[in-house]
Formats: sequence, structure tokens, C-alpha cells
Amino acid sequence: MLLSTRQFSFSYPVWVEFGCGISRRIHEKAAALKREKAIVVSDPGIARAGLLEPIVASLEGTGLQTTLFTGVEPDPCGEICDGVAAMAKESCEHTFFVAVGGGSVIDTVKAAVVVAAHGGSALDYRRGGKKIEKNCPPYIAIPTTAGTGAEVSPYTVISDPPRKKKLVLEGPQLWPRYALLDPELTLGLPPRVTAETGMDALTNVIEAYTSTGTDPFAQALALKGAAMIGQWLRKAVAQPQNLEARSNMLVASMFGGLCFDYAGLGAVHACSHPLGAHFGLSHGLATAIMLPAVMEFNLMACPELYRDIAVALGVDISGMNLFGAAEAAPRAVRRLMDDLGLPRTLQELNIPEEELPLLARESMQERANLCTNPRVPDESQMLSVFYRAYHGHSGRK
Ligand SMILES: [Fe+2]
Repeated sequence: MLLSTRQFSFSYPVWVEFGCGISRRIHEKAAALKREKAIVVSDPGIARAGLLEPIVASLEGTGLQTTLFTGVEPDPCGEICDGVAAMAKESCEHTFFVAVGGGSVIDTVKAAVVVAAHGGSALDYRRGGKKIEKNCPPYIAIPTTAGTGAEVSPYTVISDPPRKKKLVLEGPQLWPRYALLDPELTLGLPPRVTAETGMDALTNVIEAYTSTGTDPFAQALALKGAAMIGQWLRKAVAQPQNLEARSNMLVASMFGGLCFDYAGLGAVHACSHPLGAHFGLSHGLATAIMLPAVMEFNLMACPELYRDIAVALGVDISGMNLFGAAEAAPRAVRRLMDDLGLPRTLQELNIPEEELPLLARESMQERANLCTNPRVPDESQMLSVFYRAYHGHSGRK
């Protein structure tokens, strides 16, 4: 690990609790919020899986007026967020939200609390848009996937389908008040979703570790997170009921959210947004496909950091020189994707090759992620990265 010589600082405003069954004790945290009305937000799959009843029962058991909304869709758009915000209308100061779900649900609630407090529409508050300046209703985040780390971050990504864009809202008001990490809620997650979301968590820690904005605090979390994912993601996919694997993945995912809050991300996330916006790829799958291609592009900028990642992923680097060890890191990622049964290339996903220039161009506009990528790409280099991800190697044809 490199020790940064740059100044750094951290403070962390979210109270995180981890434990089996902890979501059923949500009433303890709800009481501390001192509000009368709870709006529980989730999606249809989670409702069908029966994960919401114990949470709602815990809230209603204390006499809280509880409303349920289970209509969140993947890659939420502004309208859904606005609709959720409207549920708090006229009682904003008496209401708190509970987000039970993966990144889409938690992101919906983050945008909804902004709209509930400020009015207007979620996309009005994207980066560079209207300011988020008021206090927002508090919310409790209960993740049901181990991937985005959204439960510990002050960012949300909202889709703008007509413009085929994904837009980011950010601000300290977007932190949850509490994050309850209950690994039992992730036991029913299908293997493919486990794999894709787990690859997002891996991308988060690798990009945070190698970011130009990184610091020792973020790097410690990132490296530990990478080692946990390398050790446990395969088991979580192979044995969906393995509570130890699920627990480790949930904590690693939280580490990912924590470390990228401080360190920033990189080109993988810059590429993943246009891939999701144009072709509907899940965030996890988009990051998984781009990750090894971006790592290979970045290698020359910080081989010692990629060597650390290789070691964290379980590669025996004895006898390898620095670049050899660094090159083992993207190889280990591809091996992991093979083991998880994920596609390796954009070609396998039927992304049209002629659209790669558009994807490269739009990725270059994702400055907030690109500005901390360890190697600064120009557009033609970004296109080469997309070709690498398309073919699974560097050749164009
Ligand atoms: Fe991510």
C-alpha cells in the first residue's frame, strides 16, 4: 500500500449496525427519530419474498403510522422518486422513510427526501442543477443486496430515459440516518443478482483503492473489501444460503460505499453510466464487463496498487516482477467472472459494435468519475478500452 502524502480528513455521519435479524429491531432506531409517520419503500420482488412484513410489524408495533410503497423499478427515473416524495406531502416534518432494497430502492429514497423537502422534481437537483440546501426528512437504509454500498453514501443515480442519461444527485442531506445491515435479508438473492451486485462491490473497492483521490483510510477499507469479495463472492453464488458468505459480502459492500465516498471512483463507473442508460445493462453487469479492460488501461499508472489488488484477490505473486504481478489483477477478475458465470464481453451482450464511439464519447463526459481515474484517457483511448471490453482483448477485430 502506498501512503498518501496528501492532506486528508474524514468523519462519518451514518450509524451502521450489522447483525442477523437486526432489521426486525428497526423500531429501536425509529423511536430515536421521534417522528410519527413511516413510509417504507421497496420493490415488487422484495415484497414477494416476504422481507417487508417483519419490518412493517416492528414499526407498527410501536404505534407508528406506516405506509408501504413497493413500486420501485430498476434504474429509477425522476417520476418514481417524485411519486415517493409526494407520499410525505403535508407531513414532511413528521415523516421518515425506510428504504428496503438494493441500490435502486435506496437511490429512490435519497432523491425522494430531497424532493419532499424542496419541492420540484428529482432531476432538478442533479449535479450542477438546483441546490440541495434544506434539511430533508431522515431515512433508514436496509440493503437487501451486497453491491452498491448505497446505504453508506451521500450520492444517488437517477435515470433520465428521454435523454438516455444517468444523473447524479449529491449532498450531505442524502446520507441515511441509520444503515441496518441484516445478512439474513440477502439469503434469497438469486445467484445471478448476487454475482452482478458483488462485481459492483469489487469495482467500488478497486476504483477507490487506485483513485487519485485515495487516502490511507479509504485504501485500508478497499483492500480489506477486495480480499473479502475475493474469498466470499464465489461461495455466496454457489451457496445462496451460506450466511457467512452473505455476511462477508454485505460488510465488504459497505466498505466499498465508505471508501469511494472519500476516494472517488474511476473510468469503470464513467463507462457504466452510458452502458446502462442506452442498453439497460444493470449497474453491476456494466461495471463487471468494463472492470478488467479499464484495469489493463490503468496498469502503467500505478502497477504497485494493482499488484496489491492481485494479492488481495488471492494471487500468489512470488517470482513475479512488479508489472507481472499487476497484470495478474485483471486476470484474477476475469477468472472470477468466469467462475460466477457472467458474460465477459460487450459482444456477448449484443451491444452493437458501431455504438462504441458513442459510448466512449459519453463516458468522457462523466467527469466526476474520470477526474480520479489513475490514468487520464483521451477519447480515442477510451474507445480502445471499449473495444477491449467488446472483444475481451485489445484487438479491434
Ligand atoms: Fe458502483
